Amino acid sequence: SSWEYIKTEVNGKVGIIQLHRPKALNALCDGLINEVNTAAQGFDKNDDISAIILTGSEKAFAAGADIKEMATREFIDVYNSTMFANWGDITKVKKPVIAAVNGFALGGGCELAMMCDMIIAGDKAKFGQPEIKLGTIPGVGGTQRLIRAIGKSKAMHLVLTGDMIDAHQAERDGLVAKVVPADKLMEEALAVANKIAAYSRPITRMAKEAVNASYEMSLQEGLKYEGRLFYASFATADQKEGMDAFVNKRAPTFTHK
Ligand code: HXC
Repeated sequence: SSWEYIKTEVNGKVGIIQLHRPKALNALCDGLINEVNTAAQGFDKNDDISAIILTGSEKAFAAGADIKEMATREFIDVYNSTMFANWGDITKVKKPVIAAVNGFALGGGCELAMMCDMIIAGDKAKFGQPEIKLGTIPGVGGTQRLIRAIGKSKAMHLVLTGDMIDAHQAERDGLVAKVVPADKLMEEALAVANKIAAYSRPITRMAKEAVNASYEMSLQEGLKYEGRLFYASFATADQKEGMDAFVNKRAPTFTHK
C-alpha cells in the first residue's frame, strides 16, 4: 500500500492498523497521525468492516509524540496550528476500536491508546506519561482521560513522577481490559474484535455511543441518553432477530438493519 508510517490489513470483518515507524519506536509524528486517521475513517466507512484494531510492534505501541519534530516549535506555532488537535479524530470513529498494546505506550502513545474503546495489553507492555521529564505536560488527554480511567491519586502519580507502570499494574488500575502473553496479543485482540463483529453493527454503535456519553454527562443525563438509545434499539430488525432467536433457541443472523 501507499502508507509511509503504518501498515493496514483486513482480517475477516476486522480492520487492523499497525503503527510502523520502527526506527523511532513509533513516535507519533504528524504524518503518522494523519495516516492513522485516514485509515481509521476508511475502515469506519467500509461496510465489510465491523471492528478496528490499532496496534504497534512488540517493542513499542508508541513512545509518544515525536519529540524531535516538536522540540524547537514555539508557543505561537503550536497555538496557531492547534497542534495535535486532529489526534482526537480517532474518537469520532463509530465502530469499536481496540488498542492492542505491546511494549512502550508512553506520553502520546498512552493517550492514543486511551482514545480507543478498550486496551488489551501484552504482558510486556509499559504505560506512562513521562512528559514531566521533558518540561511539558500531557497534551492529548493524559490529564483528563487517565484520571477517568484510574482515578486521581494514581493519575497524579503517573503524571507527576513520569514513572511507568507495567501491564499487570495497568490492568489492576483499570486502564487495561485484559493482559495476555505478549506473543498472544494479536490473537486475543482479534478474538475480541471478531466476537464484537458478529453482533449487529448499529447496536454495537449504540452501545459504544452510550458508554462514551458517560464521559460528558451527569448520571441522570447519561441514564436518559442510554434509555433513548435502548428504546431506539427496538426500532431495528436486529433486536427483533436477536430476541426471536433466543426465544426459539436458534442462533441469530444479524443483518445490520
Ligand atoms: C522521537 C523517539 C521517541 C519520541 C524514541 N525515539 N522515542 N523519537 N520521539 N517520543 C527514538 C530515539 O530517539 C531513538 O532514535 C529510537 O527512537 C530508539 O529509542 P531509544 O531511546 O534508543 O530506545 P531505548 O533505549 O530502548 O528506550 C526506549 C524509551 C525511550 C524508554 C521508550 O526511547 C524514551 O524514553 N523515549 C521517549 C519517551 C517519551 O518521553 N515520550 C513522551 C513524548 S512527549 P535514534 O535516532 O536516536 O536511534 C509526548 C507529548 C504528548 O508524547 C503531548 C501531546 C501529544
